[in-house]
Amino acid sequence: MTVQKDTSGLYRLIDRLYSDRRLEPDGYRALLVCDDHKVAGRLHEAAREETLKRFGTGIYIRGLIEFSSICRNDCLYCGIRRSNRKAERYCLSKEDILECCRQGYRLGFRTFVLQGGELPDTSDMLIEDICSAITSEFPDCALTLSLGERRDETYVRLFKAGATRYLLRHETRNPVHYSLLHPKEMSLEHRLHCLDVLKRTGYQTGTGIMVGSPFQTYDNIVEDILYIGDLKPEMIGLGPFIPHRDTPFRNYRTGLVDSLPADIVGLTARLISIFRLMLPDALIPATTALATIAPGDKNGTTPGGRETGIMAGANVVMPNLSPSRVRQGYSLYDGKASSGAEAAEGIGELEKRLEKIGRHIEISRGDFLHRE
Ligand code: 5AD
Repeated sequence: MTVQKDTSGLYRLIDRLYSDRRLEPDGYRALLVCDDHKVAGRLHEAAREETLKRFGTGIYIRGLIEFSSICRNDCLYCGIRRSNRKAERYCLSKEDILECCRQGYRLGFRTFVLQGGELPDTSDMLIEDICSAITSEFPDCALTLSLGERRDETYVRLFKAGATRYLLRHETRNPVHYSLLHPKEMSLEHRLHCLDVLKRTGYQTGTGIMVGSPFQTYDNIVEDILYIGDLKPEMIGLGPFIPHRDTPFRNYRTGLVDSLPADIVGLTARLISIFRLMLPDALIPATTALATIAPGDKNGTTPGGRETGIMAGANVVMPNLSPSRVRQGYSLYDGKASSGAEAAEGIGELEKRLEKIGRHIEISRGDFLHRE
């Protein structure tokens, strides 16, 4: 005998999220936990409708330049953590970075994302100089930074040097969970302070989490949803946690703790849809981690995580623009994709894969806009 699950309450939750843009914490939890394909399908459909209404079929592209693998932090999940002696350390020069931007510009990129490990404060001048050089050579492009926690005044200086967007995932809004993922010298309080400063400075600000990170529970994710709902970031980055062999979490597998599911792609997709419905104008990437964990096949016959993310409401992809000689060095997790449609030079493949799902690359800068 098959058990008939009553899913009508879940459909009503989706309708409410669509019309009110918010739910009670229990409502979010119910949608996260639900593994009914039909319900998930309806959730994705509502989110996709909202995306298409606001953005059309275009997907924004951002050229990701992995500036440096040197990091002063020791986050337990990350392959470039300070205490990983095996990590290859590099730092691109200003000229290298400008060269990446030139190549990206020729390929059609109009946003550059400078991402790297947390360099010491003594590097702030160098970073500022690089920002000025990029914005003066490419005045029609947007510059996004993703360089971790910096001093308040540094955020202001980098903004004045022309960077207008900043990505800093909060990773988890629960202080105990935060302390299980980070060394004791790091604090959630400081991370949230940085996000506040970034917003107040005027950056289009992005935050987000890893889905299925060690010790994460559904309740933690609900806390993240409530936090993001209050912060209203312009960008939201969500990717599955993937273990790195030279970190303390090397053997950690999702699906083991507090019954978080093994289907981490499905959970990530449901979260993308929830955020799309909560903050319909947000810029939400289908992340490299999502494409890594579910590569799909090259010609797009089997959709991968990137396509799944887009079908669930994502509207940004961030191909890798770093010089190929350093790509292996920026190893945040095992098997990180940096070729094919995840690479700037693979933009043709990306375009083809997007076509299969009725979407196309949108060339404009794609700033955050309120569309109502
Ligand atoms: N798996 C998935 N994502 C990771 N990040 C760092 N390490 C991992 C990992 N092992 C993510 C963090 C960080 C972003 C730059 O990369 O969320 O904010």
